Amino acid sequence: MLRIVVCVSGGGTNLQAIIDGIKSGRIRNAEIVRVISNNPNAYALERAGKNNIPGACVSPKDYGNREAFHEALLEEVRKAGPDLIVLAGFLVAIPKKMIEEYRNKIVNIHPSLIPSFCGKGYYGLKVHEGVLERGVKITGATVHFVDEGMDTGPIILQKPVAVEEDDTPEKLQKRVMEEAEWILLPTAIDAIANGQVEIRDGRCRIVGNRKDRGIS
Ligand code: GRF
Repeated sequence: MLRIVVCVSGGGTNLQAIIDGIKSGRIRNAEIVRVISNNPNAYALERAGKNNIPGACVSPKDYGNREAFHEALLEEVRKAGPDLIVLAGFLVAIPKKMIEEYRNKIVNIHPSLIPSFCGKGYYGLKVHEGVLERGVKITGATVHFVDEGMDTGPIILQKPVAVEEDDTPEKLQKRVMEEAEWILLPTAIDAIANGQVEIRDGRCRIVGNRKDRGIS
């Protein structure tokens, strides 16, 4: 069983997609052992509670400086003994030490087709605002491993979503979630949990029965 820690800051619809994926068997051989938030009011923590998953809040406000916060966050992660850490809308820069300790064991979901509309300043609605401003016709979502850069780690899966004439950032955000994120994240986790993801020379390859698992 792959032990997963999910880190969240907000609503947690991607967390919900993972919970549902495990329940339905879409994600095989995995369990969520802890949900960690930096935000005590994150609805994601309630979702964890409702599903009997232990939740914890590590808020930077409770620590004197960034270093102490990072240490507490890392300690909370370590306690759970994860095989995989999923950043599902976690608005905290991951401490360097955590990246080193969990190399190729941290994944993030980003609501665009990396390398477009990612990196500094591109989070939440800002991603979709950027997409509409530039006028691209296709956007989507990306699941990738986390390295020291911002949205620069090996890409595991991507899924495109068409931009429509009357889109607003909010409408587009919702469609990218529904059509891409909530499908992509469980698919990637399932592939990792079942030994189907290989990393070589900084690039990922999905091995095994791709079609069977809904990976195109
Ligand atoms: C998602 O759009 C995800 O791609 C981004 O943050 C958002 C989190 O949404 N990293 P939710 O909390 O899972 O609903």
